[in-house]
Amino acid sequence: MGEWKLVCRVADIPVLGARRIGRPQGMDVAVFRNAEGGVFALLDRCPHKGGPLSQGIVFGTSVACPLHNWTVGLDDGCARQPDEGRTPKFRVKVEDGAVYLDAVELASLGIDAAKPVAGPERCSRPASTPSSVVPSNARTQGVPDTEERSGFPPSRE
Ligand code: FES
Repeated sequence: MGEWKLVCRVADIPVLGARRIGRPQGMDVAVFRNAEGGVFALLDRCPHKGGPLSQGIVFGTSVACPLHNWTVGLDDGCARQPDEGRTPKFRVKVEDGAVYLDAVELASLGIDAAKPVAGPERCSRPASTPSSVVPSNARTQGVPDTEERSGFPPSRE
């Protein structure tokens, strides 16, 4: 059996809520507590679009993601049908009111998961975009100015 790391006390976790556990690398781990006193731990990242599961509502052995209301199982990290996907689940040990996570999992599980980016998805600007919408600092961001792009400005023939 591996080494366990003390992360908090059960009393530190709100009933039907969660507490986030930071890590030196990777995203936080969300430690949940349900109405029956069960304690569960998942990567704080919804399998849909990365929403913060720690901000969701716990019911039974599931949590409803606050962004688009997907239901994710606290016992397995899997999205409930009809949705699909899975977020990493961490092993938990509760002893004398203290909550422990597996130290190896805490250091390695889900480390590569990318944080979601807020706001609309980025897209490249089409070549026909008028110069009036080119940001004033475009050159410093590595975006070519209007004269460097092919086909712009339009020919005056
Ligand atoms: S990000 Fe969780 S339901 Fe969409």
